[in-house]
Amino acid sequence: MKWKNQITDLEAYKPGKTIDEVKKRFGLDSIVKLASNENPFGYSPKVDALLEQFDGSYTLYPDGYATYLREEVAAFLNVDEKQLIFTNGTDELIQIISRALLEEGKNTVMATPTFSQYRHNAVVDGAEVREIPLNNGDHDLEAMLAAIDEHTAVVWVCSPNNPTGTYIPKEPLEAFLNKVPKDVLVVLDEAYAEYVVASDYYDSTALIRQYSNLIVTRTFSKIYGLASFRVGYGIANEAIIQALEPVRPPFNTNVLGQFVAKEAIKDQAFIKECREKNREGLKQFYAFCEKNGLHYYPSQTNFILIDFQCDSDEVFEYVMSRGYIIRSGKALGFPTSVRITVGTHDQNIGVIVAMEDFLQNKARS
Ligand SMILES: Cc1ncc(COP(=O)(O)O)c(C=O)c1O
Repeated sequence: MKWKNQITDLEAYKPGKTIDEVKKRFGLDSIVKLASNENPFGYSPKVDALLEQFDGSYTLYPDGYATYLREEVAAFLNVDEKQLIFTNGTDELIQIISRALLEEGKNTVMATPTFSQYRHNAVVDGAEVREIPLNNGDHDLEAMLAAIDEHTAVVWVCSPNNPTGTYIPKEPLEAFLNKVPKDVLVVLDEAYAEYVVASDYYDSTALIRQYSNLIVTRTFSKIYGLASFRVGYGIANEAIIQALEPVRPPFNTNVLGQFVAKEAIKDQAFIKECREKNREGLKQFYAFCEKNGLHYYPSQTNFILIDFQCDSDEVFEYVMSRGYIIRSGKALGFPTSVRITVGTHDQNIGVIVAMEDFLQNKARS
């Protein structure tokens, strides 16, 4: 077969362990998954009622333009409907952007560690990947600017960043955007934007009006609690959307995903409540870290990266044996840290007790 050279050594995405796998392996009845930054509070209660009423057809293709969802999101964000593109999760939008702009002879600039799919897609598309190490958890925007040259097509900015949970304040982000050449697309991944409480965070829709080379990506998978429906979207000026649309597969968002996302975005009271409960949950983890002298990055997301100063797989395995699936930092570029999704109050207590026990066992051994 004539596979592309660059994919022969590429590893497939490794998702976190499934609940059933862990149940079987440890003979446990109940497992709490705090590995993929889903919403522990689920989704708007209005969605269940809605699904019962769904009277659309599963036989016909879905609306390829996501018309009703588009109307709702455009009204919510106060942007034109033509400024939006809907995708099968943000993952697909990243793929579409990469496919539309990256190829051999071009390069792309991103932080490291950051969300893995920017690099992954760029490699598949044959572009050179320029990874700029984070500076104490933050994007090193100056170094990222310095890495841009005439062959750079895309710059990825993840704010808040996965896996650190750190964000870029408005001022440095604007200073950065002012300096990026206008023919380089800046992708601002805001998968966790709805969790942010920092007062110096930016308004990304305002930035889109200011910067013609910016696309913002958002998702219904995180705070909206609808990860399995696979709905993400991009916001940009019309010209960028028009350029990307031909690369989008025709029926990429499914009928139920469009249906529930359209309603979920209307329930902002639920989103606010989740954001507030998440802040309370983060405080539980901060207290645990401070009590035990463990380094963590203050988070603007629904996860926290904690450094245990030992092989992260040890922490991961121990906590899993106690019924909590978290994410080992090894695959995330932080080999001595674990990333934990903030759960409900009780889930947080449970995983913290397991981590306390891990530390005690380690101290004894
Ligand atoms: C920063 C970031 N971007 C994008 C995604 C992809 O989200 P989805 O494809 O579910 O919209 C994730 C998921 O973990 C993420 O953390």
